[in-house]
Formats: sequence, C-alpha cells, structure tokens
Amino acid sequence: MWRGITSLYKQCSNGPDAIVSNQSTRDSHTERFDSAVFNNCQRLFDSYGSVFRIWQDPLHLSVFVADPDIVEYFLSSNTHIKKSEGYDLFQPWLGQGLINNAGDIWRKHRKILTPAFHMKILEQFSESFHKFGQLLIEKLKKQENKDIDIYKFIILYAMDAICDSSMRIDANAQITGDMTYINAVKRFLDIYEMRFFSFFNRYELFFRFSSEYKQYKRDISFLQTFTKKIIEQRKQERCSNQTEEEFDEFGRRKRRKVFLDILLDSDSMSDTEIREEVDTFLFGGHDTVASTISFGLYELAKHPKIQTKILEEIESVVGVDKTEAITIQHLSEMDYLDRVVKEILRLYPAAPLIERELEEDVFLNGSKYPKGATISFHIFIQHRRKELFPEPELFDPDRFLPENIATRHKFAYIPFSAGPRNCIGQKYALINCKTTIANVIRHFLVLPVVPQHEVILLNDAVLKSANGLLLKLACRH
Ligand code: HEM
Repeated sequence: MWRGITSLYKQCSNGPDAIVSNQSTRDSHTERFDSAVFNNCQRLFDSYGSVFRIWQDPLHLSVFVADPDIVEYFLSSNTHIKKSEGYDLFQPWLGQGLINNAGDIWRKHRKILTPAFHMKILEQFSESFHKFGQLLIEKLKKQENKDIDIYKFIILYAMDAICDSSMRIDANAQITGDMTYINAVKRFLDIYEMRFFSFFNRYELFFRFSSEYKQYKRDISFLQTFTKKIIEQRKQERCSNQTEEEFDEFGRRKRRKVFLDILLDSDSMSDTEIREEVDTFLFGGHDTVASTISFGLYELAKHPKIQTKILEEIESVVGVDKTEAITIQHLSEMDYLDRVVKEILRLYPAAPLIERELEEDVFLNGSKYPKGATISFHIFIQHRRKELFPEPELFDPDRFLPENIATRHKFAYIPFSAGPRNCIGQKYALINCKTTIANVIRHFLVLPVVPQHEVILLNDAVLKSANGLLLKLACRH
C-alpha cells in the first residue's frame, strides 16, 4: 500500500505540499475548527497560487483549485462526475440522494427529478414565496429598530417555502418558530465539517467513541423521521383528495406535479430512495437559500444606494402596492435585481467548496492528476481572486453587466457549479432569493448595526456566519 501512496505522491507534479488537516488548528476568535480551516485555505492559495497539491492525511491526496481553466476541464466533463470520499459523511443522513450518488443511480434519479424544476412548475411557486414572504414581513415588522440576526428569521421562511412549494406540506415553521429540525441540521453539519478534516473521526470506527456520537445518531434519526412524516402526510392527502385541483372547471390542467408528487408517482424508486431524495432536497432547498438571502441583506445594509436602485426597479416593474405578488414575469424584467443577486452569490457562494474523485489519470497543462486524487474546487476563494474580479471585496452588481461578463472566463463564476452535476435547484434558488430580497427591500430600509458587525465566515458545508448576520430594519411608510 505504501508503494502505491508514494507513487501517487510522485506523480502529482503541481504545487507544494502542505497539511491543512490538523485537529489542533483552531481559530482564536471563534474556537471553531472549521473557521480556522477556511482561513488556512485562503492563506495557502495566497502562498501557492491557484492550483496546488496537498496531503489531507497520509492516504488522501487533494489538488486545490481556484483556476477557471482547470475548473472548466473537470466540471464540464461527463467522465469526472464521482464525488469525493468526503461526501460519504453525508450518507448516514442523505443516503444515496442526488448530492452523494454517482453512476447509474445518479443518472436515473437526475432524469426523474429534472422535470420537477421546469420553469412551468417554478411559475406556480411564486404563490408560496408570496404567501410565506408576507408572513416573514409581519414577523420582521415586530423587530423594527432592533439589532437582529436576520438568518434566524430567513431560515424559518426558507423551510416554509420549500415544504409548501415542492412538497405541498405546511411546515408552519414561521408560525410555531420551531427550530428543532433546523438545529438538528446545524449540529449534523458542524460534525460533518469536523469529521471532514479529521483523519480519525472520518471513520465511524473511531468516531463512535467520541462524545458527540450519541447526539449525532439521535439527530439523524430525528431528521429522517421528520421526512418520513412529510411523505406519509402527502400520501394521505393525495388519497383523500384525488382530484386535488389538477384540473380547472374547463378540464385544463391547473397545478402541475411538484417534486414530491413526481417521486411518489415514480414506479422505479423504492421507499428508501424516495426518503433519501426528500432529505436531500429539504436540506439543499432551505439552508443554501437562507444563507444567500441573509448574507445578501447583511451586505445590502451597507449599501443604501443599491437598495434605492432595487426599490426603484420594483416600483417600476411591480408597482407601489407592497402587497402585490412578485411573479416570475416581474423578475424577468428586473435586470438590476438579477445583478445584485449574482453579486451576492459571488461574495457569499452558499456552497463554498465542492469536490470530485478521479477515477482515471488526467494530464492537463503539463501536470498529472492521478487516479484516486481528490480535486477540491474552492468556489469561495476563486470568486474573490483579484485577477478574475478586480477589487474583489467591493460589492458591485455592475460586474454582471453583459459587457463585463463578456470580458471574463466563463468558468470564473460558478456559484451553482457547472456541467452535468450542476445544481438542479438553481432556478428555484434564484427565484426564491430574488423574490424575498425584493419583498424585504420594498418594506424596509435595511441598516447596519452600530458598531459595525464583522462576520466570521464558516464553511459548514453551507456558508455560514459564526457570529450571526446582524442588521436593523426601518419600515418604509
Ligand atoms: C443559492 C442557493 C444554492 C446554491 C448556491 C447551490 C449550489 C450548488 C452547488 C455548487 C452544487 C454542486 C455540488 C457538488 O458538486 O458537490 C449543487 C448541487 C445540488 N443542489 Fe444546489 N444550490 C443552491 C440551492 C439549491 C436548491 C434550492 C436545491 C433544491 C431545491 C438544491 C439541490 C441541489 C442538488 C440535489 C444538487 C446535486 C445535483 C447533482 O449532483 O445532480 N440546491 N448546488
């Protein structure tokens, strides 16, 4: 085995060696292991450039990438679609759901689920985003002029939105304020990140002796029971309401099948496969969207002029009536809002790091990427490279004017990944994020807190802030 490892090491010719995976690495501000790793990655890219190799541990060679040419090669390929070993850590919860799986199962599930995110289906989701958006506004009005962590409100909204739109289930998250599911996800992700960077805890054999193990098992059991109940509830509703508004009084199809109905109607998926996909989409559909909207509002608080431009656009396209639903048609006419959301996802990509495992040797630009190596795509770091985005820390939506996009590499900006394994929910995410941000901006002037709040970024599989996303809201009358 050691001969194999040494030969793998010699073959990978690009970059220096450095160890990022060290349990004793802790961030002095937060005592959060994952925050320190995040900062260390940035330092490594600063020192070694946009591509380098690293030994995650004696058995795992990784190539860290923030270079659009290399990103293009791997992500657009139909061959390199296998996820890295790190994704196996999701398996106890998400099983063989779409994020994790590969090969024939992935092809089959992706084909079944792609129609669930067709534009015709997404059009009807505006109703959900409006209904739960109004509830969000009511909740936020009660917080006027207080310092609030906006994420705590948006995450409940995002749960309501995904359950109602894609599962046709009322989660009642905002009404009850119940954070049990959300907290269980958070604990799972904290442990996921700790195990991802730990040589021993990666393996269940060692992890089962850790102090976190019992709670971890309880959380997984709770999360999966939660999903099973959703599936059961939907099954019962479908039985008791066979005709459920599928057709209007003229016999025309009224509401199209949504994600969960497509799964339940598929005769080629087992109950376990259905449960795993519901777990996957519930996770993918709420946490990423909540991260994007919350970071977006936090950033907009620092930019009143940008808020004014968004408001002007909303009023010219939707009108001044704040209760008017924002539809997909409206969004298609709101170019400035589109640029703002793109810029939010540049600075705060909800999935900051993704990985593949090579199943064959690759020769590219004079370097060999050996079979078995992990390719780590550091989306967050790539989006802040000054060679790709001048003055990268500056929030400037006009980077996404067509003439500016034309000057950039087409794989410089990849918040939803790209190629065959890109994000299946990207249109859903963009519609939800735009609608919600527009809705908040038309009701409130978003203000920074005093003294200014500086976020401590975490890569918890989804981009998070360790110290919340604080801001203040003033009602627009
Ligand atoms: C702003 C929000 C979102 C961002 C930034 C985002 C980003 C991404 C990225 C980068 C990937 C590639 C992951 C990888 O290669 O490991 C991905 C995959 C995926 N996303 Fe999203 N996502 C978002 C929202 C959503 C939503 C709303 C859903 C579901 C409703 C979703 C479901 C998925 C699924 C199932 C995959 C796996 C697709 C496959 O491998 O075939 N995502 N997403």
